[in-house]
Amino acid sequence: MSVINQNQIGVVGLAVMGANLARNLASRDLQVAVYNRTQSKTEDLEKTWYQDQQDNPSYQGGLYGYQDLESFVMSLQRPRKVMILVKSGNPVDDVIDQLLEYLEPGDIIIDTGNSNWKDTQRRLSQLSEKQIRFVGCGVSGGEEGALRGPSLMPGGDLEAVQEILPYLQKIAARDFQNQACTTYVGSGAAGHFVKMVHNGIEYSIMQGIAEIYDLLKGCGLSTEVIQKHFKDLNSGLLESFLLEITVDILGTKDGDEYLVDKIKDQAKAKGTGGWTVEAGLEFGAYIPSIAESVFARTGSSRNQRFIINRDEIYTHISLNKLTNFEELLHQTLDGVYLASYLQGLDLIALANQEKNWGIDLNEVIRIWQGGCIIRSRYLEKLPQIWNSTDQEFTQKAAMKMLMNGTNTPTPVISSCYNYLQTIQAQYLPTNLTQAQRDYFGAHTYKRVDQEGDFSGGWS
Ligand code: 6PG
Repeated sequence: MSVINQNQIGVVGLAVMGANLARNLASRDLQVAVYNRTQSKTEDLEKTWYQDQQDNPSYQGGLYGYQDLESFVMSLQRPRKVMILVKSGNPVDDVIDQLLEYLEPGDIIIDTGNSNWKDTQRRLSQLSEKQIRFVGCGVSGGEEGALRGPSLMPGGDLEAVQEILPYLQKIAARDFQNQACTTYVGSGAAGHFVKMVHNGIEYSIMQGIAEIYDLLKGCGLSTEVIQKHFKDLNSGLLESFLLEITVDILGTKDGDEYLVDKIKDQAKAKGTGGWTVEAGLEFGAYIPSIAESVFARTGSSRNQRFIINRDEIYTHISLNKLTNFEELLHQTLDGVYLASYLQGLDLIALANQEKNWGIDLNEVIRIWQGGCIIRSRYLEKLPQIWNSTDQEFTQKAAMKMLMNGTNTPTPVISSCYNYLQTIQAQYLPTNLTQAQRDYFGAHTYKRVDQEGDFSGGWS
């Protein structure tokens, strides 16, 4: 069934994420138009929605498939609101170009894909020339989140975001106070920038968890026992989505063996972690653990010719020498979560300062409390830590102790430790670096006892 000028919102791109977002919108009593270039996807989604309605007779919304873009656009109430969820990069520009044939001034395009924030910035200015309002909206939560409640990070045109916010609030996850995990993140590319940094934090925490898993494996523990450790770790501030799925993963068998043991150890990435590192360099943010986590994935495709039996060279933690092993693990992972979050926030704060996006970091932390991949109880305490000036990072002792007990590679745990050490250091040895720079290149230095720039004085 089709309707004209009646659908409240449209979704273009019906791969799993787009299809699930559309179902989520329709399940919240909205009239949703859907379009996909390959028609069979539209038909499949209509069937799925029909089933959703059979299973949930209380649903009042509607989901209507269109076979051509023009009738899809014409079916929307004005100002039209079109969500696009296609592969980031050129496909987004292609869909926007096609939509421009039918959209009118004042209409709103919402890019809910994992777009690069620089593309979002460019699209914003290109579309504003055509009086089309553009929203770059980060979406986190994977397929399940898209269907049941993601964290939504919209940024860009303020009025446009205000117009779509009631819809986003309906479909978003809930924070710890039961408020919707969405907000106007900020102007320009703020939404996609914040989502990108979310992913950088995601990479770092994931690698940190993998390193703990490796340490436990190195102790000779069985997958069953390791799973039990992760179950225990998933508590207090560390109660989190990523630990929850780790427990599920470690409990999954494939025949008689654990599925995880059958998976090749070469980690892939779609790019958002790397973009975060680029942004860190661009805005001068200190994000070593995010960088290490990106390179840990690259490093996992290591050159096979160097490989030797790791049991011959890696020493392992000897469990019987550690009385408080569980507490050490907890503290170490706590340090990983904390350092990863702080690095991400720092990067957002620096970019925000330079770009004037108007991002409220407390709001960012709040909308990450539900639905997204990096959600954890830590986010309840994080604003207090972030805003304080006299934090003592007690996790460091445990991190050091665990690392001392082994020589397995722990790039993220080590860099989180170094990060916490560095940001607390009353002084660093970089006075010597400055001296060397000035010595060989007259690059100047600042003095602790006088204002201004100085050069020379070397004997
Ligand atoms: C999310 C995720 C998601 C991301 C995947 C895969 O917040 O839902 O961040 O957007 O695409 O996690 O990312 P990689 O392929 O780069 O690991």
